[in-house]
Amino acid sequence: MFTIVTNPDIFYDDYLPVRIVSREPQIQEIRFSLQPLLEQKKPSPIWIHGEPGSGKTSTVKFILKELEEVGVKGIYINCWEFNSFYSVIDKITEGLLAPKSSRSGYYKFHLFENYTRKRPVVLILDEADKNRDIAKLIYHLSDLRIGMVYISCSLYTLYSLETRSKSRFNGIFIEFKPYNIQDLIEILKERAKFGLHPGTWTLKLLEEIARLSKGDARIAIQTLKNAGDRADHEGAPKISLKYARLGFGRAKSLRKTYRLKKLTDHHRTIYELVKKNPGIISGELWSKYSKCRKPVARRTFTLYLTQLINLGLIRSERARGRSRTFRV
Ligand SMILES: Nc1ncnc2c1ncn2[C@@H]1O[C@H](COP(=O)(O)OP(=O)(O)O)[C@@H](O)[C@H]1O
Ligand SMILES: [Mg+2]
Repeated sequence: MFTIVTNPDIFYDDYLPVRIVSREPQIQEIRFSLQPLLEQKKPSPIWIHGEPGSGKTSTVKFILKELEEVGVKGIYINCWEFNSFYSVIDKITEGLLAPKSSRSGYYKFHLFENYTRKRPVVLILDEADKNRDIAKLIYHLSDLRIGMVYISCSLYTLYSLETRSKSRFNGIFIEFKPYNIQDLIEILKERAKFGLHPGTWTLKLLEEIARLSKGDARIAIQTLKNAGDRADHEGAPKISLKYARLGFGRAKSLRKTYRLKKLTDHHRTIYELVKKNPGIISGELWSKYSKCRKPVARRTFTLYLTQLINLGLIRSERARGRSRTFRV
């Protein structure tokens, strides 16, 4: 049967592209910074920052693969999943110890330290800002002779650390700026060539998607996939511009889920409460929230609420008097 989307795998977020488009300067800089590792020296740590969808994770994974081919041990950890000092140390030493070993975190840390004396290691802490013990991690990992790469959406996490850990970092910063339209077209072209039936897409379609996506490669790729699915669903022979717009709408709502996934449990609780109670006023929201498990202080609650509004996840409207109402 004829389908437009011939290879859906190519559009998944964890698909590692064969070619990283237009990130050559960053790739060179990361490669160069990690080079000392191959001469048994300690490289400076790297702090990569940039908006979601700017290619941070894929670029670093791409370099990691290269390094593994020359004998470097690569360890990739997403701090969203491993969000404390000990869970990171556990994950690092997973393969070095008997499974479910009950040895202490410090014992494991020293075990890892010994390991790094024997073999070059690159450790990547992705979404570093999501680790609640990031200061402690930076502090202790700075002692080791390993290649350290932290990835985060901003520099803020590092700036907000206590001076002790901040001054320990002493590394280099690499920024990933949002892509321009031409970059996004190139990225999309690769996916279209390998994932869509020939003749079902045009350069004009990719241009339109690139324009809508505002620098975010994740959104662009998702939009293209959604547009293809939609056209398939309607039995269309090719992806017209109409499908690009429909696909973008869906990709944007996906971005919402993605953003929400990146927030703390407290943000999520607040969001869920607003979702369940459309039009709820601030006082009521606080009163419901404060009954949840281990609530944060009211000031922090207000800060989280403002962050959710700024991210476009919650809308706020003026109500009678001085109160405001909220809905998602
Ligand atoms: N330069 C690039 N070349 C090819 N694909 C890319 C590039 N940058 C990002 N992508 C793709 O876009 C999506 C999001 O990229 P990712 O590296 O996860 O971004 P970030 O970690 O900055 O949020 C992934 O599917 C990735 O494969
Ligand atoms: Mg990422």
